[in-house]
Amino acid sequence: MDAFRIVGGHPLRGTVRISGSKNAALPILFSSLLGGEFTLRNVPCLRDIRTTLSLLRQLGAHTEHLDPPATSPSEWTGTISISDRQTPDYEAPYDLVRTMRASVLCLGPLLARKRRARVSLPGGCLIGARPIDMHLKAFEKMGARITIHHGYIDAETDGLVGAEIALPYPTVTGTENILMAAVLARGTTTISNAAEEPEVADLAHFLMARGARISGAGTSTLRIEGVEALCETGYKIMFDRIEAGTFLVGAALLGDSVRIEGVDPAPLASILDVLLAMGAEPRIEEEAITLGAIRKPVGTSVRTLPYPGFPTDMQAQILPLMATASGPSSMIETVFENRFTHVMEMNRMGAEIEIHGSQALVRGGSRLEGAIVMASDLRASAGLVLAGLVAEGETEIKRVYHIDRGYEAIERKLELLGARIKRVQEDQP
Ligand code: EPU
Repeated sequence: MDAFRIVGGHPLRGTVRISGSKNAALPILFSSLLGGEFTLRNVPCLRDIRTTLSLLRQLGAHTEHLDPPATSPSEWTGTISISDRQTPDYEAPYDLVRTMRASVLCLGPLLARKRRARVSLPGGCLIGARPIDMHLKAFEKMGARITIHHGYIDAETDGLVGAEIALPYPTVTGTENILMAAVLARGTTTISNAAEEPEVADLAHFLMARGARISGAGTSTLRIEGVEALCETGYKIMFDRIEAGTFLVGAALLGDSVRIEGVDPAPLASILDVLLAMGAEPRIEEEAITLGAIRKPVGTSVRTLPYPGFPTDMQAQILPLMATASGPSSMIETVFENRFTHVMEMNRMGAEIEIHGSQALVRGGSRLEGAIVMASDLRASAGLVLAGLVAEGETEIKRVYHIDRGYEAIERKLELLGARIKRVQEDQP
């Protein structure tokens, strides 16, 4: 298994270009099951994207990487053409769903187009129970019959019909699943209390570019009028705001001026607000943000919330900054019930963080020291990388396969900024 070895304390300087968004690319790729053809640009090269493409191929899609660069040995280009050949396959097996929960995003489009879906129940994961009851209730309201047997969801319909869906919580993949189903359903669907995350809006804009009739993209009320079929299009996936946020925290910790390019500052507002409260002085341009290390970071209080609140996907990354800031900080996690597994590892590096239920109390003023630590999920790994970059001495982060699910070449991007980080085999001397 791969590990990262980091020698901390080296300043970061230069420019980093942010990749396409994982959480926007995933639903957009799954929407290929609605049929037709399209080309996507700015698709990040990530393990979750490869898993999605292989599931889509099993379900009958044809995928092609365009324009392979002559200089690169990898076949990955960021531009993918995808078409659906309408095979009778409709099953997402356990082996794939187990490695990537987002596979449940095939339910909506399969039901809409093939009128049948069989998808392994995702089960809990380390960060929380993560049920999908809201997705299933909405599909039932739209005319699907759903049964769960032997760990599989079996869903079928004689044809989905539009419905009024009032979500009890603005679930992100739930909103995306219902939106995809509604695009080809008969009649009008309204989703109220819909997730407002920019990635949901990106999916809506993509579907609109394919001829879907959607109003309210990016707001909490989506109105979708079903159409017969979608048309061909080309589309550029939005930037990854969590990757951008991770580099912003890196710059706030160690930046000797880091320019983060390829971003739209608006969806980063809640992250920038926290950094500003801690003393950051970012220079914000239309498509770039430049930031240096905060000279005397001060503690602050943060609560994770659905968009436009502070994202739960940035909670682990902000903790090393809180740990080294002067004065106490607090972090309340309201989205997932068990998303503090990185805290024990950060404490082994010298942070002083106490967990009280859903709240992490950070003492502040700690000097982090390198240690051997274990990554337990994607964003926890990113938090540990940032802790390793600022810690004194060497940190080894084991199980970094988690980070490869969601960060494109993070060690190469950091190395180009001057970090001492390398990928090694675990236990390699
Ligand atoms: N929930 C339910 N029932 C449902 C759906 C959700 O109880 O039917 C609960 C969840 O258990 C959770 C809360 O609602 O406590 C929020 O879950 P949500 O459905 O919004 O999360 P998700 O769609 O499963 C997406 C991202 C996550 C991100 C969350 C929150 C994708 C592929 N995943 O997950 O990203 O943390 O929204 O913003 O978009 C990551 O990238 O590392 C990641 C975990």
